[in-house]
Amino acid sequence: MQEGAKLKVQEELNRHFTDLNGRFDARLSAVLAIRRAELSAETTGFSAKYECRAKAQYQKDLMGLLEEGMLLAVRNFKAKKHDGNRFTLLEISRIGPEHFGLRGLSDQSYYPYQFEIIEQSVSDWDTDDKATMMIQLAAIPLNYDLILSGLDQEYLKGFTYPIVGERVFILSKNTIHRMYNRRLLEEFGLTWNENRISTIAEARKDPRIGVIKMFQEEKDPIPIYVSFERLARYHFGIFSFTGGGKSNLVSNILRRIMYHQKTTKVVIFDISMEYPFLLQDVFSNTSISSKIITEIPVADAEHFRKIIVTPRKFEKADVTPTLKSILTMGRVGHFAEGSEHPPTYEDILEEIKLLAMDDVKKAVNLNAINQIRLKVLQWVKDKHAERSQTVTQPFLEYLQTEALSILDRFRVWKNSGLYAWASTRSELATLIEPEEKVKDDKSFGSERIVQLLEGDVRLLCLSIAEPSVIKQLAITLTSDMLRHRKREFQVDPQVLFVFDEAQEFIPAYEKARGIDSTCTQRIETLLRQGRKYGLGGCVATQRIAYLNTNALQQLHTYFVGPLPRPYDRSLVSSTFTIDQSILEKTLEFAPGQWLLSSYIATGMENAPIFITADNSETELEKFITARR
Ligand SMILES: Nc1ncnc2c1ncn2[C@@H]1O[C@H](COP(=O)(O)OP(=O)(O)O)[C@@H](O)[C@H]1O
Ligand SMILES: [Mg+2]
Repeated sequence: MQEGAKLKVQEELNRHFTDLNGRFDARLSAVLAIRRAELSAETTGFSAKYECRAKAQYQKDLMGLLEEGMLLAVRNFKAKKHDGNRFTLLEISRIGPEHFGLRGLSDQSYYPYQFEIIEQSVSDWDTDDKATMMIQLAAIPLNYDLILSGLDQEYLKGFTYPIVGERVFILSKNTIHRMYNRRLLEEFGLTWNENRISTIAEARKDPRIGVIKMFQEEKDPIPIYVSFERLARYHFGIFSFTGGGKSNLVSNILRRIMYHQKTTKVVIFDISMEYPFLLQDVFSNTSISSKIITEIPVADAEHFRKIIVTPRKFEKADVTPTLKSILTMGRVGHFAEGSEHPPTYEDILEEIKLLAMDDVKKAVNLNAINQIRLKVLQWVKDKHAERSQTVTQPFLEYLQTEALSILDRFRVWKNSGLYAWASTRSELATLIEPEEKVKDDKSFGSERIVQLLEGDVRLLCLSIAEPSVIKQLAITLTSDMLRHRKREFQVDPQVLFVFDEAQEFIPAYEKARGIDSTCTQRIETLLRQGRKYGLGGCVATQRIAYLNTNALQQLHTYFVGPLPRPYDRSLVSSTFTIDQSILEKTLEFAPGQWLLSSYIATGMENAPIFITADNSETELEKFITARR
């Protein structure tokens, strides 16, 4: 090739790639096929089929600039058809500097000699001596090809074998920005600029959720956007140990949904009472309709402050004016259980099961009980009712009449418990409309809470620490909303159900009894069916090993932080097919740093990327200072 032509090619490549100002010069040295372990995937996790190795010439600043998670491009065997401009994309999983002298040093050598060599090597790292040092890189395929034509970039899904010996390029800042964000910026109606990245952490001004953890040495960060609509519709999960920043991330995302996704509604199941504080700026915003429901009536701002949890950093902060205004706006109510729940068909069937257990030795009674059960099922079928639905008054009358006539037919003893049960069923009618009696406009039963959501409230926070109460609400709300949507064939507006501390709500079936079992089952149903009806879910937890795996499999976007237990990591890796070597990297993360992978909500499907989420506490700090 002529010198001029060569230069032109180089110039074109420079538009897409970076050599870190002439510092990065690397070649692909090997492509290794990874043999999959034959053990079950749950205990071993998922690994990519190939691992690639590259060797970079040593340069003294390079170690400070290269980062795990950076994306690389190497020409592949399909490049010929595209003038050489087709590349396989790889993600750096490991970086290792190597010193020739140290490698050759044997443990058997004379000790003073070993020390001498080691000490001498220190100063070598400060030179550009390519003969003594080199940097080894390990990278795994992203399963995308990049095709360049002029300024255009096209991404094709699939793996193509890269050519060993070819040059390794690093995708430049602009290329990464374009690849992940261009389409999303357009969706947000924001301008896309080829040469300038403009972004700001402030939630109201920029819908980004944070920045990409790449090129961190340079001053302008690359923002990361997600489609809030698809994030909610296809459900998302947030996994990291306690203190990893889950609640912070949830509040960051919800705040941005409120500001930038004007129709989406959100319900938070806030069992640890954190969100009134974490989202106080939103709750006190007059243009966003919101409601907080607590377990007991809130007397005043001081009382309010005491019952909600405050992040350590804000223990001394004065938030009374904000809490006061949230109260004055009438945005705080309390839950009124309506003494007892009106029974559902499921509850009645459950009672019948218990009766059968009591009378297990009395064949005649069992026959009668079974007949009653069939009558109930018959009604449910004839009326097209769902088992999770509250029973109606006509049903209770039917139940009592039918049950008594069956018991008479079977000659069941009139003083038996069974007979007493049957003759009191219509009494339950008083429970069906208990909320009519409640006059206090600050007290909310489940019925009224559902009405809030069907009304104009966009942000609903159920700050209730009592597990049995909040679980019962989760059951009622998810089933009612789903049933309502199905009946009306309705998909709008979108509603996102947020379960922080999700282990409380969606435990594995083996661990769940009673209300826990119903709760996990209902939320699983919501996640399975909700997508068709505009109902989404967010699940945040520190321990995924004991969660309902069917529910987990419904999540299409995941944020993964440090999970210290290997079993949790393997489970994340195998459930969501994230390569283990990429996942291991999360162990080094500080709070707020995440591995983000999504089939649907980011600009690049299923291409995991490391991000630093914007800190909700910074947003709160600004808000609190401004209010003073
Ligand atoms: N994006 C972030 N940037 C900086 N610090 C963060 C970020 N997210 C969380 N933190 C820090 O981590 C602490 C714990 O966060 P939190 O959301 O309560 O964790 P979790 O819910 O996982 O237990 C916060 O108080 C904050 O100091
Ligand atoms: Mg938390």
